[in-house]
Amino acid sequence: MEHNFYLSLLLLFISLVSLSLFFLFYKHKSPWNLPPGKMGYPVIGESLEFLSTGWKGHPEKFIFDRMIKYSSELFKTSILGQPTVVCCGAACNKFLFSNENKLVTVWWPESVIKIFPTSLQTNFKEESLKMRKLIPQFLKPEALQRYVGIMDSIAQKHFASLWENKTEVTVYPLAKRYTFLLACRLFMSVEDENHVAKFSDPFHLLAAGIISLPIDLPGTPFNKAIKASNFIKKELLKIIRQRKMDLAKGVASATQDILSHMLLTCNENGEFMSELDIADKILGLLIGGHDTASVACTFIVKYLADLPHIYDTVFQEQMEIAKSKSQGELLNWDDLKKMRYSWNVACEVMRVAPPLQGGFREAITDFMFNGFSIPKGWKLYWSANSTHKNPECFPMPEKFDPTRFEGNGPPPYTYVPFDGGPRMCPGKEYARLEILVFMHNLVKRFKWEKLIPDEEIVVDPFPIPAKDLPIRLYPHDA
Ligand code: HEM
Repeated sequence: MEHNFYLSLLLLFISLVSLSLFFLFYKHKSPWNLPPGKMGYPVIGESLEFLSTGWKGHPEKFIFDRMIKYSSELFKTSILGQPTVVCCGAACNKFLFSNENKLVTVWWPESVIKIFPTSLQTNFKEESLKMRKLIPQFLKPEALQRYVGIMDSIAQKHFASLWENKTEVTVYPLAKRYTFLLACRLFMSVEDENHVAKFSDPFHLLAAGIISLPIDLPGTPFNKAIKASNFIKKELLKIIRQRKMDLAKGVASATQDILSHMLLTCNENGEFMSELDIADKILGLLIGGHDTASVACTFIVKYLADLPHIYDTVFQEQMEIAKSKSQGELLNWDDLKKMRYSWNVACEVMRVAPPLQGGFREAITDFMFNGFSIPKGWKLYWSANSTHKNPECFPMPEKFDPTRFEGNGPPPYTYVPFDGGPRMCPGKEYARLEILVFMHNLVKRFKWEKLIPDEEIVVDPFPIPAKDLPIRLYPHDA
């Protein structure tokens, strides 16, 4: 009897606990019908899988494995310390890109905010808005037309000093040097190679730490990136102070570059930007425009080496333009308009190897999407590979085929190396110019072969050949 009493008590206790757990679970779960997926381990979630598929050269594997397992459109995960919904495919891209500031807003991982702490007491969203207001002055068509000749003369000097008279070169560091030199010249009128070299190396450390686990311990990529960012900012501040003096003395012009413009433009309240704020903005532009375009240039060299028939067609197109120029005449806007096939090749390169793998947004309100709930504060991630390497968007995605970009090109929201909505890269046209000028100067001088035929690709966070793409050069005039 006593035994039965205790058994009943135990059963009652178990039932109560189970009921409480059920209600707790039910209460917690009921409002949300979250997308399918797995949140992984506490804190780190699935960050390691997310990052390590990139380190192994297949960032799309993280996405496609889960698209097959859970859903071809939306799945939940936890990356970089955040509960995240990954949006896949053209329809999801369209939804995400068209709901900017309605349902979602820009978000950057903690690592990015710590590496680029803004000097102002505002947030990234405001800073990004300011940047978007400033940029069009410099990246509008009239300004870009002026840049073509400058880009060509810088490219000619670059190839003469670092490629010509060499039998072997390593492409990625040279491509970075080229895009960085252009940015320094066009954004801040810094031309001296030694000056540029001084702060170009820390950029490599910066890039490596941007999308990393935010562990600030000596020697971690994150820690090195923070130090590199501080170093570069100090160098930028020196340049900014010198420019202020030059403007005051009248030896620098108000319209010569983005730096003068930032120093002399005030906001609607009549306030000028502080030196630190300008340093932040220039750093943002340099990082946004430098590694992305150099990655594109590097993969162009790789694919032109792999695919001689494509090289030949690019060569023909570029030589027709080269032959139409008189001795010493620089490339101009009209020449670039004729480089249609070359640009299709560059586009196909950015389809198979998108320099930026995707981007984050944050839900600014609870909302429903495709029948699933997205809670306020959750992050959303769009991935270029989810369409670029998807046979439904690009038939035979593994085939390198520049003709995909002929005529109307790929369907909307499938080709998104530059994003596709209101946050579309403001440097897209500038990037097109620098890439085409690079291709022109390269193919008119050389043919080449890869020194490591099956060189692996590492994505961290930009895709790069693991050994930086060493090649043997065969000059045309040899
Ligand atoms: C091949 C070269 C490039 C690629 C693939 C690329 C790609 C992108 C993408 C995908 C975004 C949007 C990120 C997001 O959705 O969160 C972006 C933003 C941005 N890009 Fe580019 N970019 C390139 C070159 C450039 C250049 C040359 C510049 C500067 C001259 C530049 C400046 C920026 C800036 C400032 C932003 C942030 C805009 C904002 O905050 O709204 N990019 N880029």
